[in-house]
Amino acid sequence: MTVEKEQALRVHQQRFGREGRGFAAPARVNLIGEHTDYTGGFVMPMAIDFETVAVVSAREDGRAVFYSANYDEEVGFEIASLTRKPVGGWCDYPAGVLWSLREEGVVVGGFSMSLAGDVPLGAGLSSSASVEVATAMALLGHAGMELPLEKIATLCRRAENEYVGAKSGIMDQFVVVGSVANRVMLLDCRSLEYGLLPLPDEVRVVICNSMVKHAVATGEYGDRSAEVEAGQAVLRRERTGVELLRDATLDDLEACRDMMSAASFKRCRHIITENARVLEAREALLRGDMARFGTLMVEAHSSFRDDFAASCEEVDELVVIAMQQAECFGARITGGGFGGCTVNVVRAEAAEKFVATLRRGYAAKTGIEADCFVCTPSDGAFALAAKGGVA
Ligand code: GLA
Repeated sequence: MTVEKEQALRVHQQRFGREGRGFAAPARVNLIGEHTDYTGGFVMPMAIDFETVAVVSAREDGRAVFYSANYDEEVGFEIASLTRKPVGGWCDYPAGVLWSLREEGVVVGGFSMSLAGDVPLGAGLSSSASVEVATAMALLGHAGMELPLEKIATLCRRAENEYVGAKSGIMDQFVVVGSVANRVMLLDCRSLEYGLLPLPDEVRVVICNSMVKHAVATGEYGDRSAEVEAGQAVLRRERTGVELLRDATLDDLEACRDMMSAASFKRCRHIITENARVLEAREALLRGDMARFGTLMVEAHSSFRDDFAASCEEVDELVVIAMQQAECFGARITGGGFGGCTVNVVRAEAAEKFVATLRRGYAAKTGIEADCFVCTPSDGAFALAAKGGVA
């Protein structure tokens, strides 16, 4: 058991006077395939070694009591009185999962839950999916129930879309539940079929936080998804066989150019080209061609910056500095955009040197001290539970 888990169990015991059961869920980084998930496209994320631990124990008064160790705050209510009423704080995420489980017909008796985690907030590493999935695993454990991967991911997404009110896709919740150590996931966001691909031993994934905050729940992510959906609606109406943007080609898009806004055209172009890049990245990975993989990452970044218009100066700077280093195969923004982190694929033996040069160069350019993490793909919540991540 990790120190964090032991600590979380102790905090729960001290606060609620009962021993709890602990459930952990990681964070994630996306290697390639950005803003493709909510139009049925392809993504290539992996789980990373940050986590949220949810500790749960029963109570007899029919209440749900959530305690956040990070915020040192407690929120409680009658489970029977839970309606879809977010209040705009950390508790919306776990309360949303409780709401979503109840919508699925899961009967949840009174409980106390403490949540603790080390996932950087607003960095595009999916702190929200990590909290949602840890909560779902804990509540299912508490209810004595099991659900399949797809179901847990879908109901956590529903919590975020319909309870919290953020219009995210399925990528984050799916990979946070279903990842396996040392593998990256290739997920088809329409069918939810997925493959697990090995990353060559000679590379490391380096995450670099620009320290520019981003939040999916606020406006810009929603603006982009609205522009995409408007373009998709035109394509669906005009082109036979196009149900989701995932089905459209660049020729389809060109034929509809005059029927949509210039912004929608560019956003859709990003997604159509990005889906093709993800599939090509899969091929490159399978043949161990990291040079091609890296080039696709850089092309993905340019498309995200120019067509999707969702990068920012600081993040662009991080990509430029990264690509000046010989040991870096590829670098790009990761996550929802408008700040957050870059993901870099670098030669394993040069990872530490890469980090030092990147941090120095970024500080010299922007005056900002970036946080960097050298990562390998971690287990998702399912694998953690199966390995005894459950206390
Ligand atoms: C956020 C959302 C995901 C996905 C990414 C962009 O992380 O939660 O569903 O849309 O942005 O790829």
